[in-house]
Amino acid sequence: MRCLTDAAAFILVGLQLTRAAPASIRGPSSLLGFSESNGVNNENTDDFNHPLADGQGTTNANVGQFLDFSDIADPQPIRGTKGGTQPGSDNDILNKLYPDKVAPPGTDHGGTINAQWSLSKYPHHKLGLNRAGFSRQENTVVMPDATAFAGVQMRLEEGAYRELHWHVASEWALMLNGSARIQAINENGEAFLDDVSKGDVWFFPPGVPHSIQGLGGGTEFLLVFDDGEFSEDNTFLVSEIFAHNPKSVLSQNLGVPISAFDGIPPGELFIFPGTAAPSDIEKQNVTNSNGVIPKSATYSYHFSKQEPLDVAGGSVKIIDPQSFPIADMVSAALVTVAPGAMREIHWHPTSDEWTFFLYGQGRATLFTAEDSANTFDFSSGDVGYFPQSNSHYVQNTGDVDLVLLEVLKADHFSDIALGQWIATTPPQIVEDTLNLSSATVKALSKAKEKQYVIPSSGPVANPIKSS
Ligand SMILES: *[C@@H]1O[C@H](CO)[C@@H](O)[C@H](O)[C@H]1NC(C)=O
Ligand SMILES: *[C@@H]1O[C@H](CO)[C@@H](O)[C@H](O)[C@H]1NC(C)=O
Ligand SMILES: *[C@@H]1O[C@H](CO)[C@@H](O)[C@H](O)[C@H]1NC(C)=O
Repeated sequence: MRCLTDAAAFILVGLQLTRAAPASIRGPSSLLGFSESNGVNNENTDDFNHPLADGQGTTNANVGQFLDFSDIADPQPIRGTKGGTQPGSDNDILNKLYPDKVAPPGTDHGGTINAQWSLSKYPHHKLGLNRAGFSRQENTVVMPDATAFAGVQMRLEEGAYRELHWHVASEWALMLNGSARIQAINENGEAFLDDVSKGDVWFFPPGVPHSIQGLGGGTEFLLVFDDGEFSEDNTFLVSEIFAHNPKSVLSQNLGVPISAFDGIPPGELFIFPGTAAPSDIEKQNVTNSNGVIPKSATYSYHFSKQEPLDVAGGSVKIIDPQSFPIADMVSAALVTVAPGAMREIHWHPTSDEWTFFLYGQGRATLFTAEDSANTFDFSSGDVGYFPQSNSHYVQNTGDVDLVLLEVLKADHFSDIALGQWIATTPPQIVEDTLNLSSATVKALSKAKEKQYVIPSSGPVANPIKSS
């Protein structure tokens, strides 16, 4: 009470002061335009410390190596002889994350689409009931040019459900952590039930109703929908189909009294805690006269059990309709890139690429016609997007493995690799076109096979020279 009185008195004093010294919120007309009395202050705007990252000021901007700003307090928009210091308002936390935006390689030019988004940025996480989990999503609201796919990352605690539902888009999923039980029914009335663990994949076609439950220890997974405008807020939920049909109709349709529906949920459950799934999956094996879904049309693929193909600098494994037929237009590659190595420069001739960064950090340059290129930096939990036939690479810029998932809307996984293309072109054409020495062209022509991942070439040492 006493505090309140003091505070009120203080405010009163403040008000009186304001009244006593009549001031305006706007300035006088004497400040307009030139007048000798309005002289300038020559402040030194370069009077601050701005250490540069290794290689930032000492190599030609076109060398464009990765700049590590992690120990730089105040990253500067400087690359080689280009740019200048930044004394003004700036977000140094973001600048450390996006060095290729602050100080782009000299080879960046013009405008491309925005090819990078972090799921931490927007929209807010959608939180499940009673700490059962959450989801977060990326779609055309935040990446307007990423029209082929939208992505959702979802967490379910042990026993928690993603409510029974269906949607207009198809759903392709990669398990990121833990294990889950998934179930569905197809249009032939055939039942599907399986347990999946970290690294496995599932696919539910449009309209197929399904549910997901976290098993022991819970689960986390990535969902990829074949429509960039998809939203988790816009799915058909079992709670809502029950809430929005007349109870007399439900009663007639399902053959139980109206009062049987007295306790149904009033609205969406989405993510909510449940009774732990029985560890014996056969206890939940419910079928009708149509039996279980045949293997040729089944909704899961135990991708975790597929050995990756080791290549210099990392490994690759592909899942596409040749091995997982039900996902007839989703082709994906899970790529591991060792520190310093890179997914080679390539493009996908028939599809846009939607990318998810599972672990580590990397950067990519998107080259697009005409004459435009932008370099983007990525961390785990980020989405990348590279339009059809637009070239890109992904270089590991960290000190642990980079793992990324490339998803295409295609009936098989395919790409064209710059290195293989050039190596398989008659040397005379390459020499004449690129003005390379015949020794260089001879060296290039050795890499005739697709590399997928190129090993680290060691530190860049390239003194600055005028270009
Ligand atoms: C799975 O989750 C556990 C618990 O948070 C974590 O320790 C582990 O690193 C995760 N595994 C992967 C591969 O992310
Ligand atoms: C369920 O039962 C059917 C036979 O009715 C069997 O083919 C199938 O393997 C069982 N298990 C699962 C998980 O579908
Ligand atoms: C070809 O490259 C050499 C240097 O390697 C340069 O001197 C020459 O001007 C270039 N030719 C053209 C046509 O650009």
